[in-house]
Amino acid sequence: MTEFDGDVVIITGGASGIGRATASLLHSRGARVVIADVNGPAADELAAELGEGALAVQVDVSDSASVQHLITTTVEQLGRLDVLCNNAGFGFRGNVTTIAEADWDRLMSVNVRGVFLCSKYAMPHLAATGTGRIVNTSSYTSLVGIADRAAYVASKGAVTALTRAMALDHVAEGVRVNAVAPGTIDSPYFGTMIAEADNPGELLDELNGRAPMRRMGQPEEIAEAIAWLASSRSTFATGSILTIDGGSSAW
Ligand code: NAI
Repeated sequence: MTEFDGDVVIITGGASGIGRATASLLHSRGARVVIADVNGPAADELAAELGEGALAVQVDVSDSASVQHLITTTVEQLGRLDVLCNNAGFGFRGNVTTIAEADWDRLMSVNVRGVFLCSKYAMPHLAATGTGRIVNTSSYTSLVGIADRAAYVASKGAVTALTRAMALDHVAEGVRVNAVAPGTIDSPYFGTMIAEADNPGELLDELNGRAPMRRMGQPEEIAEAIAWLASSRSTFATGSILTIDGGSSAW
């Protein structure tokens, strides 16, 4: 018997970075995982790599019909839904004067509306188990703010606030809602940014320097925290925002 035996877990953005590490960890601990990602081929590849107990579903979390398809496919094929990890998201540079309106709207539709839609359609199934769990991937920037990331910081502020609101709204149904607030993580998102930078060494120093630990975190270090919040070891936690950031928010 392993920790997540019998549990069905959806991980949005599950094909890369933090989501990929989370899908792999929960699968290794006995969960049946649904790798839900807009990048269908990458989700298929990870599901094939993990083997039995892993299902790939292509989804755009900002699109209602696509999200409803994800939830019905999960319940039809795997019979239940115990955990939803709202992890899909992205960011870009800019302040309110430089960010284009369309870019702001797109980011909000994935990072905030995506959490709303997935939670909305998953909630009845999570409640039906009596012990449903939602784990959102927020960011330490929702707690302290950083420069030149206005849309991203605003979106994660909304995710942190929505985590607390959902925790209160659904506590009576037995659904616990928590979030991780990662610091700067060495995921493919930053890997690409570093590779394409004019001065990769300088950017790497800047990213490592964001934390008192003077390094970026690894996706696996966030997956451990998501796994704890998704497990029955955290039964008194709801509405928690768990910072895992090498000390960035302590500065
Ligand atoms: P990543 O870029 O490695 O992975 C994100 C995944 O989300 C990708 O597989 C992508 O295809 C998928 N995705 C993007 N838009 C989607 C959509 N509309 N529908 C479904 N899937 C979609 O990124 P990473 O770094 O692993 O980020 C995961 C989460 O962690 C994001 O919410 C991000 O904001 C958050 N985060 C990341 C930090 C970092 O430093 N990397 C720090 C704090 C939070």
